[in-house]
Amino acid sequence: MAQSPDKPSAKKLHIKTFGCQMNAYDSERMAEALQPAGFQLTAQMAEADLVILNTCHIREKAAEKVYSELGRVRLAKEARKAQGRDTMIAVAGCVAQAEGREIIARAPVVDIVVGPQSYHRLGQLVAEAASTGKRSVETEFPAEDKFAELPARPAGKRQVSAFVTVQEGCDKFCSFCVVPYTRGAEYSRTPGEIVAEVERLAARGVREVTLLGQNVNAYHGDGPDGAAWSLASLLRRLAGIPSIERLRFTTSHPHDMDDGLIDLFGEEPKLMPYLHLPFQAGSDRILAAMNRKHTADDYETLVAKIRQARPDIALSTDIIVGFPGETERDFEETLALAGRVRFAQAYSFKYSARPGTPAAKLEDQVPEPAKKERLASLQALLEESRRSFDRQTVGRRLPVLFEGKGRKPGQIAGRSPYLQAVYVDAPEGLIGNIAEVDISAAGPNSLTGVIDSGFEWREPVQAAL
Ligand code: 5AD
Ligand code: SF4
Repeated sequence: MAQSPDKPSAKKLHIKTFGCQMNAYDSERMAEALQPAGFQLTAQMAEADLVILNTCHIREKAAEKVYSELGRVRLAKEARKAQGRDTMIAVAGCVAQAEGREIIARAPVVDIVVGPQSYHRLGQLVAEAASTGKRSVETEFPAEDKFAELPARPAGKRQVSAFVTVQEGCDKFCSFCVVPYTRGAEYSRTPGEIVAEVERLAARGVREVTLLGQNVNAYHGDGPDGAAWSLASLLRRLAGIPSIERLRFTTSHPHDMDDGLIDLFGEEPKLMPYLHLPFQAGSDRILAAMNRKHTADDYETLVAKIRQARPDIALSTDIIVGFPGETERDFEETLALAGRVRFAQAYSFKYSARPGTPAAKLEDQVPEPAKKERLASLQALLEESRRSFDRQTVGRRLPVLFEGKGRKPGQIAGRSPYLQAVYVDAPEGLIGNIAEVDISAAGPNSLTGVIDSGFEWREPVQAAL
């Protein structure tokens, strides 16, 4: 397995990612960490020497998916074995962190189990497994900083929009949520490290950066000036990087939405008018049982303040139905709040009991049929308000950042400031640029439009690395 980094043999790596954007970011970083050992990414599991499942534990279904996926991985491994080739299998992510040894016991096909705080050790784990044939579990929270240990992001495929994790873990302990256990305590990367990473991305042609954190607005990184930087100060600093034209961040907790951050929506043109702000439930009794640290009224007051700073902002949210003890009346308060706020986008879920969380031990679990019914009526309302938000953008001229090809030949696809997908007929050369688009129609999941005929586009930024 020992290979010199400059003469790696071509080995294939397949990563299947489940769950949130932080997992997508982690998958990219794992692929980069394995590059020096000669691993090249492939989209085909059947040809991979190493398969990584980067898993999600947030809801029951997400965890179950891992075990059924492992069944498919086993078949791929057996097929390769028949051709005399070995396949190594690793389970990463939050199921790895939460279940550790149990995965090794339940799925004999798995060679390595590695939690999210140990990805910088992946190369070593793979090399050890290859030379000893031993199965390993690495789910400690090591003392060293994994971000400092992971290699700097190398130049690679052309990318217009990128994610950067700035904060990880959570100290909020909402009673339904596994994140504080799987991702650990809140941790912020330093502004210096983040600025350097974003500058490298900018030099590669990236124009939009989304800062990620489970609780991103609780960000407090140790600045070079000795002061703790807030998310607002970090965003201001990143807005100073000339070729970064758009900034976003997710996910925010209402409790940590400070005035500096709210004001920034009205002050910093590079900060896009889109905010994901989960409210989870509309009943104060349920919010208290969820340990959310805010009431429905606090949430609405906050929304009013944000809309005052940036009247056109698109709000997005997460909502849970069927939390233990939730009555029809409680649920109606959730519907009413969603109806008043009118979200541009929303993600809604049936409550699922997660092992080890306080809510899982509560009596009075809501029966499945009631959860199902509540979810359906909530989703009908959310869908109606999403579509009405989309319809309101028809007839407007919006700057669209083009990220790739469209669904039809001759078409390219991009995002509006409000994160709506926008399709236009235009040359591929425009990808990587922002153009003004007259929005002409709103479909079920996207907008279509026409590029302003007076628009003169610049050559896309060349990758400098
Ligand atoms: N059951 C249902 N939904 C959950 N979420 C988190 N934990 C659970 C759970 N146990 C939802 C929350 C959170 C989103 C990422 O997932 O709405 O904001
Ligand atoms: Fe989970 Fe609550 Fe932390 Fe969000 S704020 S990650 S829901 S514990």
